[in-house]
Amino acid sequence: MSGKRSIVMSGIRPTGFLHLGNYFGAVRNYVKMQEEFECFFMVADLHSLTTHPDTKELKLNVQRVLAENVACGLDPDKVALYCQSHVHETAELYLYLNMLAYKGELEKTVTFKDKARQHPDNVNAGLLTYPVLQTADIILHRAIYVPVGKDQEQHLEMARNFVQRFNHRYGEIFPEPNAFNFGEELIKVPSLDGSGKMSKSENQYATLYLSDDDEMIRKKVMKAKTDSGPTEPRTEKPDYIANLFQLMQLVSSADTIQQFEADYDNCRIRYGDMKKQLAEDMVRFIAPIREKAEAIRTDEKYLRELMEKGAEKARKSALATIELVREAIGLNYY
Ligand code: TRP
Repeated sequence: MSGKRSIVMSGIRPTGFLHLGNYFGAVRNYVKMQEEFECFFMVADLHSLTTHPDTKELKLNVQRVLAENVACGLDPDKVALYCQSHVHETAELYLYLNMLAYKGELEKTVTFKDKARQHPDNVNAGLLTYPVLQTADIILHRAIYVPVGKDQEQHLEMARNFVQRFNHRYGEIFPEPNAFNFGEELIKVPSLDGSGKMSKSENQYATLYLSDDDEMIRKKVMKAKTDSGPTEPRTEKPDYIANLFQLMQLVSSADTIQQFEADYDNCRIRYGDMKKQLAEDMVRFIAPIREKAEAIRTDEKYLRELMEKGAEKARKSALATIELVREAIGLNYY
């Protein structure tokens, strides 16, 4: 990795399976960034301990999320893809930063308030200082770009505050990190039930997972809501129909889309045919990713080497930073 490229860092939660929304909203952007930037992508396994006291599934979840990200095109030779718990300097920096984070501001964090409300019996200090740990993840590599969704803006703002305090007290060590948005390239992936985006939703049929088998993909797409079709030429599309066209945009060829658009405009559209086409195009898109992810997930040796390689790169960068930090704080006695 060259020292000149801007540094990018982001964390991936090891929960749930990746779905199409995660792919187009996040992973695909990581894959693009790896060509241009020096990237650190981390599985946030320590963060998950704040809300998941049951760790029996941690290993499987970590392996799965690594396998799925690599299957989507993240290249472990181009980026540092690693587990948070493998980089112990994270914990040290987290400790220093905790001295600069105030109880009042942490308690005001929206994500903390949400979690505290959801789990009133587990309002632990780790949950309170979640944004401090996240800051440590980011600034450990002195990253300036953090590709994250809107829900993380507040954490990034807190990270900048902690950086300013650190730099003010101990000297200019850290650049301020900023959320990296792909702006107009940010694609909405609508859910199959006609409302909202794909997410880990209540309705299990509304979201396509990268791990769904071909039959499941077909079943979900065929269940999508339609109606008897337009009766007037060039009628505006109802939401649930517009969503189907939007999904086609992601995986179908331009010719195919054009044909169904024309059929719609002429009131000749047959939604059964459209959904069959969409299902087949989804299968063609998802199947290779699923198969690649499965092959990686079951290859313990490959996974171990992947994690070792990632950890080595991340530790190298972390160590350089933590030495500067100890020095700046004054923890250098001989
Ligand atoms: N908090 C992030 C989330 O919920 C995950 C995360 C952990 C993260 N550490 C990070 C994101 C560092 C960006 C940078 O998705």
